[in-house]
Amino acid sequence: MTHARQLPIQVVAHRGASEAAPEHTLAAYKKAIEDGADALECDVRLTADGHLVCVHDRRVNRTSNGRGAVSALELADLAALDFGSWKNGDEAPDWEVTPEDRADTSVLTLERLLELVADAGRRVELAIETKHPTRWAGQVEERLLVLLKRFGLDAPERAADSPVRIMSFSARSLHRVRTASPTLPTVYLMQFVSPRLRDGRLPSGVGIAGPSIRIVRSHPAYIERLKNAGHQVHVWTVNEPEDVDLCVELGVDAIITNRPRAVLGQLGR
Ligand code: G3P
Ligand code: CA
Repeated sequence: MTHARQLPIQVVAHRGASEAAPEHTLAAYKKAIEDGADALECDVRLTADGHLVCVHDRRVNRTSNGRGAVSALELADLAALDFGSWKNGDEAPDWEVTPEDRADTSVLTLERLLELVADAGRRVELAIETKHPTRWAGQVEERLLVLLKRFGLDAPERAADSPVRIMSFSARSLHRVRTASPTLPTVYLMQFVSPRLRDGRLPSGVGIAGPSIRIVRSHPAYIERLKNAGHQVHVWTVNEPEDVDLCVELGVDAIITNRPRAVLGQLGR
């Protein structure tokens, strides 16, 4: 079965428009939608009381004014933290948390992100990455599918039409998703090319490859093999103009970037 897309390259906002606004906040995702991103990427983790929240790191220390592992904190603990002010440094001098922005920089639940996408007024796809799924022995995927079901997104008729896809570095996590929901598209993320997948195959049933831009730069022939095997190729994290050019040249299907507006501009959109 081929998973190839015959569509223009999709521009995916990595953690939201995360160069311009604090990653994984509602502010960053609203900006990405305003910027015209085709899709939003987010990482999900389970809180101690079983809520899926959009946080990249195991701990909240880097991106909030709190401390501790997400898995040890309850949603109410996370809701008391500020996930925006850390961005006020030299790195992003334009970003300032105003009182109006404040509500948009508290912890973001996946449920709230799904509501944002549902209310976007246009098709905005969602690429959801399961983080550290092995720790929870299936609970992350289980809760994810329950939530997607509430939004009518868990069982698309055809994978090609699904506005949601699930990504992971864990083949086991993707296997759990496919077992429960065979038509939900899955993306196997890769930081390096494992020797047993060098011929362009992916773990059984996975349709989309998610190589890092480093793999693309160093092994362009591998991208060709993935495409020849009928897989879509979604590349992360592509922020440099020359890397965007390389992705275009190689005919990848999606570019995952912290700078959706700049990439769309480079693509003439
Ligand atoms: O989109 C895939 C990419 O986000 C994987 O790496 O560390 O940014 O989650 P990371
Ligand atoms: Ca991610």
